[in-house]
Amino acid sequence: MSRFVLLSPNGEFDQKLRAAVSNGLRGSVQTIASDILPAGPQELFALLNQEQPEVLIIGPDVPYEEALRFAKVFDVQLPGLSLVLVSDVEPDFLLYAMRAGIRDILSPHADAAEIRVLLERACQSFATRHRGPETPAENNGRGLVIGVFSPKGGVGKTTLATNIAIGLGQIAPMSVVIVDLDLQFGDVASGLYLNPEHTVTDAVTPAAAQDSLVLKAFLTVHPAGIYALCAPPNPVDADHITPEQVSRLIEQLAQEFQYVVIDTAPGMPEIGLAAMEQCTDVVWVSAMDVPSLRGLRSGLEVLRQLDIMPESRHVVLNMADAKAGLNVRDVEATIGAPVDVSIPRSRAVALSTNRGIPVLQESKKDPAVKSLRQLVERFNPAWRAQTQRKLHRRVVI
Ligand SMILES: Nc1ncnc2c1ncn2[C@@H]1O[C@H](COP(=O)(O)OP(=O)(O)O)[C@@H](O)[C@H]1O
Ligand SMILES: [Mg+2]
Repeated sequence: MSRFVLLSPNGEFDQKLRAAVSNGLRGSVQTIASDILPAGPQELFALLNQEQPEVLIIGPDVPYEEALRFAKVFDVQLPGLSLVLVSDVEPDFLLYAMRAGIRDILSPHADAAEIRVLLERACQSFATRHRGPETPAENNGRGLVIGVFSPKGGVGKTTLATNIAIGLGQIAPMSVVIVDLDLQFGDVASGLYLNPEHTVTDAVTPAAAQDSLVLKAFLTVHPAGIYALCAPPNPVDADHITPEQVSRLIEQLAQEFQYVVIDTAPGMPEIGLAAMEQCTDVVWVSAMDVPSLRGLRSGLEVLRQLDIMPESRHVVLNMADAKAGLNVRDVEATIGAPVDVSIPRSRAVALSTNRGIPVLQESKKDPAVKSLRQLVERFNPAWRAQTQRKLHRRVVI
């Protein structure tokens, strides 16, 4: 029994798909090499001599109208199946395709790794639908929204956000999206070595705001099995993005993903506050110097005054260094809050930024890696269930 069925007369793509599947995915491919698609599920299953594959791939050289007709029939009769269309579609067409029930679009030029990521995602969606709806206990059935904030720049926000996303991706593959809300000078793309085709600018357009499937088409897939929505490359492009658009964006992503990780600009700009209001978890970062610690204290006070209090707070002391002349008690007294995780200054972390490979992506032995894993664990449902009452434990530098 085949897990994947390809419908396409294009032999070259058939070979490429088979190679991609056999090099990393469970299950096999069956092909129906015609540009005329079966009338409906019964006809298809008769041709295949089996029932219920998981993913149907409408390959190259099938006319659009035929693909859409087929998708609509399947969407009504067998909504559990994942339909993927292989096409270089125009953005306008994308909307029609998604509405017809096509789950994902794959470029005919995609390489094997991209094909595997997309098929993996389609299989996961099949599995989820066949398991029935799951309601995570936290955040009313939505994903956790984890924002990384600090009043000062250069303290490690992007470093933490990218590592949290990669670390969570290892716990929940393809269920994590990282969003760069440092809209003007964001460097998530560089921190993850991505060259995104679409950015936050596309993700807040009316078409995406109205339809989460369109929004998802604007996300960039990272090879470690997470999604990214990067900041626009030109700071001017970010000027017109409003806090309302950002709120809507996060709301949509939290409906689609188990984890939404948000990197932010320093300080508390309106966009950051709008994001914070959507957060279930706020990670506060400070470096180990007095100005940065004082900044954090004022930041926490401002929020108290504004009455913005996300459910869970995690205070992270980054670039901790026993030689900085401060100890944890000094730090806590300055911030006015307990430190939850302390991450040592590390050469491996500094190097990872320049290479665009977060340290959690490679299984390096490094004290900072250990602390970053502790931070990631705080968002693991299993850990949270166990430690509900002890969310803030004392750390030692
Ligand atoms: N624990 C650490 N040890 C060493 N260098 C670090 C550590 N955390 C962050 N850095 C480095 O500090 C610089 C600023 O970090 P970044 O995450 O870009 O800060 P922010 O996003 O707050 O401006 C980067 O070059 C990064 O590699
Ligand atoms: Mg940053």
